[in-house]
Amino acid sequence: MPEVPEVGDVGDAGIVLLDRFETAHGVCAIVELTDERVAAALARLPAAEQALALGLPPARRRELVAGRAALHVTLGELAPEFKDFPILADDRGAPVLPAGWFGSISHKGARAAALIAPAGDARVGVDLERAAPSRQDIARWILTAREQETLEDRGRGATLRFSIKEAIYKAIDPFVRRYVAFTEVELVVTDGVAHVTSELPLAIETTWREHGGFWLATARAQLR
Ligand SMILES: CC(C)(COP(=O)(O)OP(=O)(O)OC[C@H]1O[C@@H](n2cnc3c(N)ncnc32)[C@H](O)[C@@H]1OP(=O)(O)O)[C@@H](O)C(=O)NCCC(=O)NCCS
Repeated sequence: MPEVPEVGDVGDAGIVLLDRFETAHGVCAIVELTDERVAAALARLPAAEQALALGLPPARRRELVAGRAALHVTLGELAPEFKDFPILADDRGAPVLPAGWFGSISHKGARAAALIAPAGDARVGVDLERAAPSRQDIARWILTAREQETLEDRGRGATLRFSIKEAIYKAIDPFVRRYVAFTEVELVVTDGVAHVTSELPLAIETTWREHGGFWLATARAQLR
């Protein structure tokens, strides 16, 4: 199993820990895994996770391995007794952590982020997106009419809101267990947080930051 690396180190699992920090919704680790290191990182995961990864095509395999490695970095630090715990997926695709912990994963290219929080009434979600305009104009697909009217920057502003809504989805899916359209939640984005309104029976809070050219969004949801 991976040892807990220092920020900036290539850990023994072949991942580079780019950063690790606390957020309002849990501890977040960001890692980088290049193609040439996937085999080494895969070999250090628990056997059941290796089996999960080996059933995937190469690009998805790298994503899964990077995301799991990021989760293990954080779990290994917060709960070392679970360092060999295989993190599989539930029937909705969410990672299943050992008792006492909830977590979430996101990946983008060689980079992955994981968020871990103590289990309780709330669930958490994380998302990583490039902090750049997307190739297509996504604003009209993912934003409500009111969000579009108040959007100052349809490029980066839209990808930021996309990221926040994806983090929200990961936090709320364990409660609603259905696809939630992007326009079912409405955001008012201010410095580092977005205020959320929706008709869902959930209290939802979010944070966001720009991290090394990426948006990093977190969310926390619980029943109202
Ligand atoms: C599931 C979804 C959020 C994944 O987002 P993505 O940008 O494609 O991919 P990311 O890399 O950020 O996240 C992938 C990870 O999400 C996690 N995930 C998948 N399904 C999930 C679910 N139902 N609940 C929580 N987490 C889930 C997994 O950990 C997955 O990584 P892994 O398979 O390697 O473990 C997205 O594809 C989706 O279906 N969204 C639904 C609509 C939506 O987001 N609505 C927003 C309004 S609230």
